[in-house]
Amino acid sequence: MSGLFLTFEGPEGAGKSTQLARLVARLEAEGIAHIVTREPGGTPLGTRVRDVLLDPALTIDPLPEFLLYSASRAQLVANVIRPALDREEVVVCDRYADSSLAYQGAGRGLDTALLTSITAAATGGLTPDLTVLLDLDPLLGLERAARRGQPDRLELADLEFHRRVRQGFLELALRSPGRFLVLDATLDQETIHAAIWAAVQARVATTA
Ligand SMILES: Nc1ncnc2c1ncn2[C@@H]1O[C@H](COP(=O)(O)OP(=O)(O)OP(=O)(O)O)[C@@H](O)[C@H]1O
Ligand SMILES: [Mg+2]
Repeated sequence: MSGLFLTFEGPEGAGKSTQLARLVARLEAEGIAHIVTREPGGTPLGTRVRDVLLDPALTIDPLPEFLLYSASRAQLVANVIRPALDREEVVVCDRYADSSLAYQGAGRGLDTALLTSITAAATGGLTPDLTVLLDLDPLLGLERAARRGQPDRLELADLEFHRRVRQGFLELALRSPGRFLVLDATLDQETIHAAIWAAVQARVATTA
């Protein structure tokens, strides 16, 4: 048996953090050993990198932006995710490499081959066992996110950018249908949670 690596992806305001919290509460209730982390962040280095990436006062070009995400990711995989999987725990991560492919690839137009090769180096090839993609119109997502308060640097990017990101996520899901669970993020929270829990349970059962 090895651990189980679960990631949450989707545009701004899709409900990733909301659903992640519900899943974690469920894992706790079921007594399933797990850790929770997020990108960028999750390590002391990652937290510093996160502050840089989300700072509305900074202009960051697409390539350095991607390299900063990759730096955070490499440290997170080595120090947090792999050790937890080695302990046979469930790892739940709020965003991971698919976000780089969608935002820096489809969104900002960086070359996919470059993104893929640097991501493979940063992660040592570690791919999630299950990726929940919460899909919705970015206009709706940005509206939801805006209700939380001050927009961060990424939320301020234009709507066309966010539409490309959404398409990028959907294309990734089409290419790896076995890994992705694509859900309509406009459904009610309970329905979404039930679908996620069913998919997680099926995978916990096959690794236990
Ligand atoms: N299924 C849903 N229906 C309606 N509103 C929702 C739903 N899920 C979450 N929300 C609300 O939408 C807002 C954004 O949710 P959340 O912070 O979980 O999104 P996120 O995907 O983590 O966003 P970000 O990309 O900014 O981290 C919150 O106010 C949350 O309560
Ligand atoms: Mg969130």
